[in-house]
Amino acid sequence: MKEYKGLFVTFEGGEGAGKTTASLLVKKILENNNMPTLVTREPGGTDLKFAEDIRKTIMKYSDIDPMTELLLFESSRREHLIKKVLPNLESGKIVISDRFIDSTVVYQGIAKGIPLEDIQIINEIVIDKNYPDITFIFDVDPEIGLGRIKKNNRGMNKFDKYNFEFHNKIRQGYWNLKDNDKNNRKFILLDASRDINTIAEEISMEIKKSYETKINKKS
Ligand code: TYD
Repeated sequence: MKEYKGLFVTFEGGEGAGKTTASLLVKKILENNNMPTLVTREPGGTDLKFAEDIRKTIMKYSDIDPMTELLLFESSRREHLIKKVLPNLESGKIVISDRFIDSTVVYQGIAKGIPLEDIQIINEIVIDKNYPDITFIFDVDPEIGLGRIKKNNRGMNKFDKYNFEFHNKIRQGYWNLKDNDKNNRKFILLDASRDINTIAEEISMEIKKSYETKINKKS
């Protein structure tokens, strides 16, 4: 793992699990505690036009070959990591990325069938050892997750429209991440059917603990 002053946090999970809402609540809590936080997302990164354009391309076409799609996610990832995530980590921020490498393992690997060894190799090349310090997995029954999307009118993306079998595979894929991890990473599985404020408090406490431990180790 590379050394930087900040803390790299990723949020993972199926559709409608509440990652995006939680990330904004967590940012508020952390900043109230004087911990500078950047919230960003994959694919894209909102203010990175090139990476956002790749996101639009991925979302626009429903017949992309799975490997082509994977490479698009990876090129967007690389750009986002180099231009946004790493500079903010180097300046000491807590960076929360809504999705990262584990989405590719679960969506393109477990759900769409690209061999996991291939994905692992590509992920490793693209992130060059910059693994997250903590990964929170938002675990929720797909019936609840997809129900929330419909209720909130967020608009379905092409992945939301896949069938329940696909979404259940995604959920189980996330359960198995920890077991297949060879890099000693920290995964925290959260019951995302609970109240979003409770979840955000729980995550913030965990981040605060890790951030302070990291700072104290350095001083
Ligand atoms: P988005 O609208 O951001 O959905 P969500 O709020 O659930 O994150 O769309 C991102 C979609 O892209 C989501 O369905 C998961 C998918 N995805 C992959 O299939 N592979 C990846 O590597 C990444 C980063 C995302």
